[in-house]
Amino acid sequence: MEQISDYLCRYKNYNFLATHTTPEYIDSLKSFEIRDSDVFLVTYPKSGTVWAQQIIISIYELDGHRNKYSTNVERMPWLEYKMADYTLLPSPRLFASHLLESLMPPGVKKNKTKIVYLMRNPKDNVVSFYHFTKAHIALGSPESFEQFFKWYIAGNVLASSWFDHVRDWYSNRDQYNILFLTYEEMILDLKGSVKKICNFLGKDLTEAAISHVVEKAKFENMKNDSKANYEHVPPEGFSGKFLRKGQIGDWKNTLTVAQSEKVDQVLQEKLGDLPLRFIWE
Ligand code: A3P
Repeated sequence: MEQISDYLCRYKNYNFLATHTTPEYIDSLKSFEIRDSDVFLVTYPKSGTVWAQQIIISIYELDGHRNKYSTNVERMPWLEYKMADYTLLPSPRLFASHLLESLMPPGVKKNKTKIVYLMRNPKDNVVSFYHFTKAHIALGSPESFEQFFKWYIAGNVLASSWFDHVRDWYSNRDQYNILFLTYEEMILDLKGSVKKICNFLGKDLTEAAISHVVEKAKFENMKNDSKANYEHVPPEGFSGKFLRKGQIGDWKNTLTVAQSEKVDQVLQEKLGDLPLRFIWE
C-alpha cells in the first residue's frame, strides 16, 4: 500500500479514501456473496453516479421499496465502504461502486450480475472532480485547477485514472453482463436512457411509470429531493453541492487549449486501440 496524500492510499493500482475503507476490506470482497438479483452501478467519480443511482432506485421503488429508506445512499450503498451489514439487506440489493474491475467480487463475473457502467467526457469530468475535491475535506485541497489537472492526468486522485478505469472495464466487457451508458446521452435523451436502463434490468414499465422516473431524475427535481441530493452529508465533511451545474461542454470555460489537447492525447494513447467511440467526440 502506498500513501498518495494525507487521505488517499493506493492499493492494487486503485486509490481509495483511507478515511472510508481499508485494503483488508477491499480484499475481503473476494469472498463477497453475490445474489442473482443484485444490481451494480459502477462509475469513475463525478460521472453522474448519484443521477443514475436515483434512476435505478426509482425503477426499483415501483416494485414496492418506496419510503423504506431515508437516503439513496442507504438504498444503494457503496460496495467498497462498509456502510451496513450487506448480508442483511433485502433483495434486490443495489450497490454503487467506483472500483476497478479487478477488485470486484468474483461472483459478479461468475453470476453475470447486472452492471450499469456510466462514463462521462473526461474534460467535463475533471472540472466536476476539481470542484468536488475542493469542497471535500477528505480529498486534499488543490491550489488551482492547473494543479488538480496534473493530479488527474497522473491518476493521483480518488479511484486513480479515468483513462485506466474506463479501459479496465471496457476491455473486460465480454466477461460481464454490463450496460455502458454515458452522461452525455442521459443529458441529450433522459427518457431514452431511462428506457435503456429498464430494458437492461428487465423492467417492463408503463409509459406513466417511465415518466415518473424521468421526473424524479430531472436536475431541478433531484436538487430538491432530500433522499437524492446528498445534502445529508455533514458540512464539515463536504461543503459543496453534489448537484452543481449538471451540464455538458462546460469544460470549455475552464480547460486551456493545451489541457484539452493533453486529454485528447492521453485518450488516444490509453484507449485509442479499443473499439470505443465516444458521443462527445
Ligand atoms: P457537475 O459537477 O458538472 O455539475 P457523481 O454523482 O458521479 O459524483 O457526479 C456528479 C455530477 O453529476 C455533477 O456534475 C452533478 O451536477 C451531476 N448530476 C447529478 N445529478 C444530475 C442530474 N439529475 N442531471 C444532470 N446532472 C446531474
